[in-house]
Amino acid sequence: MSEPKDPNAPLADWLRARYGDAIPDVPAEADTPTLRSMARHRTMRHYTDKPVDPALVRTLCATALAAPSKSDLQQADIVIVEAHAQREALAALLPDNPWARAAPAFLVFCGNNRRHRRLHKLRGHDLANDHLDAFFNPAVEAGIVLGTFIAAAESLGLATCPISAIRNHPEQVAQVLTLPPHVFPVAGLCVGWPSGFTALTPRMPLAATVHTDRHDDAALDSHIAEYDARRDAEKPVRARRRDDLFGSHQPYTWSEDKARQYAQPERKSWGAFVRRIGFKLD
Ligand SMILES: Cc1cc2nc3c(=O)[nH]c(=O)nc-3n(C[C@H](O)[C@H](O)[C@H](O)COP(=O)(O)O)c2cc1C
Repeated sequence: MSEPKDPNAPLADWLRARYGDAIPDVPAEADTPTLRSMARHRTMRHYTDKPVDPALVRTLCATALAAPSKSDLQQADIVIVEAHAQREALAALLPDNPWARAAPAFLVFCGNNRRHRRLHKLRGHDLANDHLDAFFNPAVEAGIVLGTFIAAAESLGLATCPISAIRNHPEQVAQVLTLPPHVFPVAGLCVGWPSGFTALTPRMPLAATVHTDRHDDAALDSHIAEYDARRDAEKPVRARRRDDLFGSHQPYTWSEDKARQYAQPERKSWGAFVRRIGFKLD
């Protein structure tokens, strides 16, 4: 089903456009401007020249950092990149993401396990949990803050595009932003006022992603086939990857695109970076 023309269409219409016909009954009390805005979400990569007021960016940061925090440890940071030199240094690392240079505002969402470690120094207690969790928790928290920022920004009509491609060059990003040990980039974020239209991206059927009581993916292959067909009809994958390696067979589906994407080595330096800045990942 194509997406509604009217941004204020009922929530159920947005959910149908996203997931296909099998959506839950939407209770009247759920059909609010907040949920409609979240259901309308889309990543947008083109922005007008209109600046985003720095006060608005900081207000959105403050709002996003109000998100829940694992054990109240508060392990996410946001770096607002304003200086031209830093913007340019990051943009130069992202030739495949020209929107990172063009966006009126650019932020980097980071996991921060450094503050937690400082508490142990200040209070004189050993850190007995210096293992994978020490990396995992701030990574998750930075993701939560990123998602909350995006939802808040979109509710104001702003457009955003997360940029995980910054993690292709973690050492350079850490240098440009002077990230200390135990602080690591999770994603950049372009922010601007939208230019043009970007279609909503359908998602996998809810039967594949929402489970009751027991996880069950017995029908996964048919869900993928159903999604490939719906995706192809509503928002086909635009650019084919590496026909020279994988051939030019039709149709070029979402599952083919994702499998081709991860058939190529990517981000091999990330693990070494995370270990170098002090994390033990056992
Ligand atoms: C953590 C994260 C990292 C992403 N990194 C990039 C990126 O490096 N470049 C880009 O153009 N889009 C990036 N995206 C946007 C995704 O491609 C986009 O969310 C996805 O295609 C689904 O589209 P939608 O957000 O419009 O529903 C990222 C999204 C997330 C959540």
